[in-house]
Amino acid sequence: MAWTLYIFLMIWTVCRGEIAAKCSAAPNDRFDCAPEKVLNKEECEARGCCYISEDDGLATGQPACFFPPDYPNYKMIDFTETKFGYSANLIRTKHTFMPNDLMKLHMDVFFETPHRLRIIMKDTTQKRYEVPIETPKVNEKADPVQYDVQFTQESFSFSVSRKCNGNVLVNTNVAPFIFADQFIQMSTSLSSQYIYGLGEHLTSINLDLNWTKLTFWNRDLIPREDANLYGSHPFYLGFEKDGSAHGVFLLNSNAMDVILQPAPALTWRTIGGIVDMYFFMGPDPKTVIKQYQELIGFPFMPPYWALGFHLCRWGYNSSAMTREAVEKTMAAGIPLEVQWNDIDYMDAYRDFTYDPDRFGDLPEMVKEFHNKGMKYVAIMEPAIGLSSSPGSYPPYEDGLKRGVYVTNETGQPLMGKVWPGTTVFVDFTNPEAHKWWHDMFKAFHDKVPFDGAWIDMNEPANNVHGSLDGCPDNSLENPPYVPDVVGKELRDTTICASSYQNISSHYNLHNMYGLFEAIATHDALVKIRQKRPFVISRSNFPTLGRYAGHWTGDVDSTWKQLYYTIPAIVLCNMYGIPLVGADLCGFVGDASEELCVRWSQVGAFYPFMRNHNTKDAKSQEPYVFSKKSVDAIRKATLARYMLLPYMYTLFYKSHIFGETVVRAPFMEFPQDQNTWTVDRQFLWGEALLITPVVEQGKTAVTGYFPAGMWYSLVGGAGFESKGEWKTLPAALDTINLHIRGGYIIPAQEPAMTTTEMRKNGMKLLVALTKNGIAHGELYWDDGDSLDTYEKGDYTLITFSAQDNTLVSKVEKLEKEAENLKLNVVGLFGIADIPKEILINGAPALDFQYLQNEQHLKIQQLDLALGSEFEIKWSFSSASSSVKVEL
Ligand code: NOJ
Repeated sequence: MAWTLYIFLMIWTVCRGEIAAKCSAAPNDRFDCAPEKVLNKEECEARGCCYISEDDGLATGQPACFFPPDYPNYKMIDFTETKFGYSANLIRTKHTFMPNDLMKLHMDVFFETPHRLRIIMKDTTQKRYEVPIETPKVNEKADPVQYDVQFTQESFSFSVSRKCNGNVLVNTNVAPFIFADQFIQMSTSLSSQYIYGLGEHLTSINLDLNWTKLTFWNRDLIPREDANLYGSHPFYLGFEKDGSAHGVFLLNSNAMDVILQPAPALTWRTIGGIVDMYFFMGPDPKTVIKQYQELIGFPFMPPYWALGFHLCRWGYNSSAMTREAVEKTMAAGIPLEVQWNDIDYMDAYRDFTYDPDRFGDLPEMVKEFHNKGMKYVAIMEPAIGLSSSPGSYPPYEDGLKRGVYVTNETGQPLMGKVWPGTTVFVDFTNPEAHKWWHDMFKAFHDKVPFDGAWIDMNEPANNVHGSLDGCPDNSLENPPYVPDVVGKELRDTTICASSYQNISSHYNLHNMYGLFEAIATHDALVKIRQKRPFVISRSNFPTLGRYAGHWTGDVDSTWKQLYYTIPAIVLCNMYGIPLVGADLCGFVGDASEELCVRWSQVGAFYPFMRNHNTKDAKSQEPYVFSKKSVDAIRKATLARYMLLPYMYTLFYKSHIFGETVVRAPFMEFPQDQNTWTVDRQFLWGEALLITPVVEQGKTAVTGYFPAGMWYSLVGGAGFESKGEWKTLPAALDTINLHIRGGYIIPAQEPAMTTTEMRKNGMKLLVALTKNGIAHGELYWDDGDSLDTYEKGDYTLITFSAQDNTLVSKVEKLEKEAENLKLNVVGLFGIADIPKEILINGAPALDFQYLQNEQHLKIQQLDLALGSEFEIKWSFSSASSSVKVEL
């Protein structure tokens, strides 16, 4: 008996020891083995995993049930070198805890370009859903490449590293790989704590790795932290410890969770599709972004007018109210480029109609706006109201005949509830729907000559969950794992996951619903107007930026939300959607006067600037405030307008090269680690740093200035920063703007519309480095025609300053720029008053010098920009413009 007990105790002790050893992962290195439900100790151990309870020191967010290192995984076999890279099969002999796990997978590794690696894993037996986005086709393996990819065979894993220095970007050996029909999970190490992206979420610029779960399932929701919002971008940019940067993109449109943990590590968890993963080697953030956008496609070139000020609200209940808003804005001296209407203009909230009583003269109103040099944008909904009696609403009936709606399990259009009451939902993946959408737009446009379309509620939003008839009980509605979506069910405030669309189930396509609508809208507008399209979409997914811009939805009118808009717009630029903004003054709730002024200042530097308000909130148009506030809003708006030629040039660079229009300091100064978390400031391109006030009651602001010369555009001396935090005065009428030494910004005298403004004189803001050098460029075209760059109908002028001389070089000239005149040159960094200033050899007629600002302003230049010029300045021998340090 004693022996038996002894042997039992021995075995128990040895086993305990083994369990303890195999379950000894440090808390931050544990990966969740019970993602789909909470398990107790017995259940967890029964699936072969390790368990730790709260009593044993489990901290918030950490998994109680986690994988041991020997958890059954795939084994890699048949590894071969191919024309593209490698291929192999992955087999597993033991099932995981997820139903329908695939026992055999095929993997292809593509060395697509020297800086882009692609790894695909899919079923060997059945074709699975793949994201219907075309990516560049590559015919053979790139060589040499900047990456190295290694595999482990027995328990399959792969790692990607940087060839030149061995930095490991990801290693999947941290947890087993699971690939089941409706559950794919892959965990990877991260190369540092600093990662950015994985939107659309309400986050700071760098993501919090303290057990954060980011859920992707496009959704209509007042933005809040830790919730799935309107868009899904399974892409991140990560820093390595030495400051190199890379990007990772999982091309998958299914509902997904991404879990970040302090190890640092990341877990991708998606409920469909395949693994199609891209790695971008950078090695700096701007190059990573460019490489990502090379894959998904560069953004569309917006019309010039898109960059002006837009005004909207839900609640302009009549054309009279809409006109009044325009008139009052103009009377307040605020330039107004585009007036919008929300759903109020519609007849019974139906697309392609207008209310005969309240908006009976909508066509005339739009024409009036056009006569003022303005544009008009109308909202459109993807949910189509039914006909109340036969013939009463032809668009619905035509769509029904043409079979353009999403259908339910009985093959009938799925019915939900949105503004018009009962609605059906357009299936934009259906080519016939694409045509139908155009036809409806065309017929409406023939009556109301609107200039752009606002596509809202296109997640799609639905006021009933799923449909009026509920949803079927099937595996798409009730997958074994439901990502952490708000409402806990996929159908929450949208249509049934199992409803049918032309190319696949809504389960697969949900996150792309808005994208397909944006493509159809973009194409319809191009065809109808034969001009550059303007589309702003709420729902978003990779590639949206090729067709549309985005606004950040129903943000609260609070200071916190104002701050969050900065990381939001910067990240959207990273996702290739540069035309982005948040509703100025916020949407939900009443904005205080101070908040609205500060928001208008920040908003004046969003690429897309629109003041928009909800139905019952207090008015927040600029003109409703005190004179002091109106003056402050006007000042910020005019500052934006003055800088529009620079912003337009940045849009050209985004369209042609995949650069961002606005960017975070870390993108511009990656070698300065202090910038890696700065998200209360942002830049336009390389040259303009914006340091707004985003807190209540403040008249000073602290910002970070990376090393170099910085010159204030709002007055005050330029300074050389060594990489420092600086506190600057910021009275209510001030948003701090600094030009970076070394850059030349093209600007122009503002006017009340961009059409007028484009005729005005131009300015160059020249910010010299300590060595007296600067460069910049101007892209110019007619601002509205299609494909001007592609057809060569544009002007490109470069400017450079050195040795006390500023010259221009006309790289390409087209007629639109022939009448452009350069009237003013502002030089920053001139240490002394010049003795002589020569314009193309002749003395300058008019100049001013400000000693404190070290600023020289040369006026009345009247130089045709189409002809190259030279401006020279010289000093008496005792002084020199720059202090050259030897
Ligand atoms: C929701 C949009 O996000 C908001 O901007 C709009 O005003 C309302 N729908 C009404 O159309």
